Amino acid sequence: MSTSSHIVWHESKVTKTDRRKLKKHYSVLLWFTGLSGSGKSTISVELEKALYELGVHTYRLDGDNVRHGLNKNLGFSPRDRTENIRRIGEVSKLMVDAGLITLAAFISPFREDRDQVRELFDPEEFIEIYVDSSLEVCEQRDPKGLYKKARSGEIKGFTGIDAPYEEPRSPELVIRTEDQSVQEAVQMILEYMITHHYITN
Ligand code: ADX
Repeated sequence: MSTSSHIVWHESKVTKTDRRKLKKHYSVLLWFTGLSGSGKSTISVELEKALYELGVHTYRLDGDNVRHGLNKNLGFSPRDRTENIRRIGEVSKLMVDAGLITLAAFISPFREDRDQVRELFDPEEFIEIYVDSSLEVCEQRDPKGLYKKARSGEIKGFTGIDAPYEEPRSPELVIRTEDQSVQEAVQMILEYMITHHYITN
């Protein structure tokens, strides 16, 4: 028997649709996936600022931040990464229900974990954005010095070095940070959101 088998969902009188009307924009999860150092956090931070300036109510979830609080009991074993992404998916679902444009930036190396998150949402509520940058470039950037530590063996099971990263097969958007500037990436995502009527400019 599952631990939640005697729990009944209690409906609210205010719905997701009501909250979207109040905010005058759609709510959606923008899921950034890619190697450490690919640019997920940088792009999501700038995108959030641009959305805010358009009057959009956002919230950003980021691997380095969430692992300080909600997920501080999780490490980087495959099992813990799966649990990390599962929790973030559930939190994101609450945020999308709350009417927010939610930005989640996690390596999320396993395709199946990302697909499980997608499954929680209506098709138009989940936008997978692959932040594509080669391992070589991410390693050159090494903003936190972690690749160096992974190479020296100080960190074990580092994504791209001795732990896998599974590329998305059909992401809604691909950003190549080796060819595109942060501002170009932000512009590309904004255009997608306007064209698909998530926001108006
Ligand atoms: S995920 O794999 O579970 O999705 P998440 O995005 O939350 O990872 O956290 C990734 C961040 O944790 C990296 O950007 C890096 O700063 C740090 N980190 C520490 N150890 C590792 C590791 N073994 N593999 C990848 N990232 C690590």
